[in-house]
Amino acid sequence: MNAPIDPIEFRTDDGSTPVERYRRLPEPTAADFAHLPGPGHASFLKKLRTLRRFLFDTVRLQQERREDFGDVFAIETLTGPSVQMIGADANELVLMNRERIFSSEQGWYPILGKLFPRGLMMQDFEEHRAHRKVLSVAFKPAPMQAYLTLLQEGIRRRIAEWPERLQIYPAMKELTLDLAASSFLGIPWGPEADRVNQAFVDMVQASVTPVRKPLPFTQMRRGVRGRAYLVEYFGREIPRRRGKQADDMFTQVVNATGDDGQLLTDRQVIDHMNFLMMAAHDTLTSSLSATVFYLGKSPAWQERVRQESEALRGQVGSDLPYDRLGELELADQAFKEAMRLRPPVPFIPRRALRTFTFRNHVIPAGTHVGICPMMVHRDPNIWPDPERYDPARFEREQEKARDKHAYVPFGGGAHMCLGLHFAHMQAKTFLFELLHARHIDVAAAYEPRWQMVPIPRPRDGLPLGLIKRAGTA
Ligand code: HEM
Repeated sequence: MNAPIDPIEFRTDDGSTPVERYRRLPEPTAADFAHLPGPGHASFLKKLRTLRRFLFDTVRLQQERREDFGDVFAIETLTGPSVQMIGADANELVLMNRERIFSSEQGWYPILGKLFPRGLMMQDFEEHRAHRKVLSVAFKPAPMQAYLTLLQEGIRRRIAEWPERLQIYPAMKELTLDLAASSFLGIPWGPEADRVNQAFVDMVQASVTPVRKPLPFTQMRRGVRGRAYLVEYFGREIPRRRGKQADDMFTQVVNATGDDGQLLTDRQVIDHMNFLMMAAHDTLTSSLSATVFYLGKSPAWQERVRQESEALRGQVGSDLPYDRLGELELADQAFKEAMRLRPPVPFIPRRALRTFTFRNHVIPAGTHVGICPMMVHRDPNIWPDPERYDPARFEREQEKARDKHAYVPFGGGAHMCLGLHFAHMQAKTFLFELLHARHIDVAAAYEPRWQMVPIPRPRDGLPLGLIKRAGTA
């Protein structure tokens, strides 16, 4: 049995704890950014108002800041002062990280450190590379084919149960959790999956709650308990899965070996599994809900995507073969365009390990920097008429003509989303089933209010119609 894991204290390969590494660099203060554009010092009340706008009016707030201060500015955030850098060039500098200036671990640490301490995004450089290579085994074509079968079965079953009017966001959340139980963990839908799902949801919610201590009755307390449950669950299951073959991601990770031929330790498996589930869950819920909504608002596109997938169905039958997924190009474009407008990771944080210069601004070591896919995805100089949903922007020719760092819903460089192909596969499979069985019906005048942070979420759950199509079960 594993010793209980204290996520903050346990030591990694070089013998240091995450906290020790974090504290090696001084935390810059607002005075260190006096030379940068930005709103400067604000009263407590003003900070509260800004925080409220950051949570509920994020796009407009960032637009105003950009108009007032330009593409590089210093602000106060929930976790302290931060420098925002907006532009495709900023995305490239930070994500490609060619000079190894930026730490992903230390950027994400204030947000994810307590609950998801050693996931891939919480590792840097050599250690990260080695672990990423091990985990990549779970995303090779053979396991992906097996996940596809599980995804398609689950999606088809759930869509058949959905009523003709529903709130798509919570329905999608439940579906995504259940699909993760089968494809990530290899457990059937039922009470065990429900318990795991609940522990997991508590943990994810806690990772973004403003109260960071596990005080009684707080979300953080529920999150810490959820983590304890999952640590116990995975710890119990790992020995059962060692040396076994199965199609789920967990069993793949348990049996994956590194360059040295070694398996991951129990602790490493637990942290990677927790993190993988977190990384997949809200991002898929958010992006798939947005795709359904935009296709509902754009009946012509909905029909085009349907015709494409029905044509494929005509050739292959009802089971979607893995090697034909590439033919669902319009479905892909529809999904990409939804993520342009509602990127599931609207901000990507890093911490500068060394002083660096960007567009003539000197930014000191220790600074928390944020790039902002949400803003670059709406830059009118890159995306004409940026608020319009138009999947044709992702036709191959148009994509080729654009700076590739102008569209980064999955990040880029060494930390580029490991589940990118999984996400596209789930999106295509979902649309293949949904558009066959249902017509998405969204009133022309309806506009949900999106809360963009931490992950885009329609505040009303996104009520819409999913009308059964004649002749389908
Ligand atoms: C639409 C769905 C998704 C979106 C938009 C998304 C987005 C992202 C982004 C932006 C990053 C990079 C963050 C950074 O650089 O700091 C990332 C990393 C990651 N994602 Fe995803 N993700 C999605 C789905 C998934 C899924 C389904 C999985 C797993 C099956 C997954 C696993 C991961 C992992 C493991 C990382 C860390 C990679 C590393 O640090 O090397 N993601 N994701």
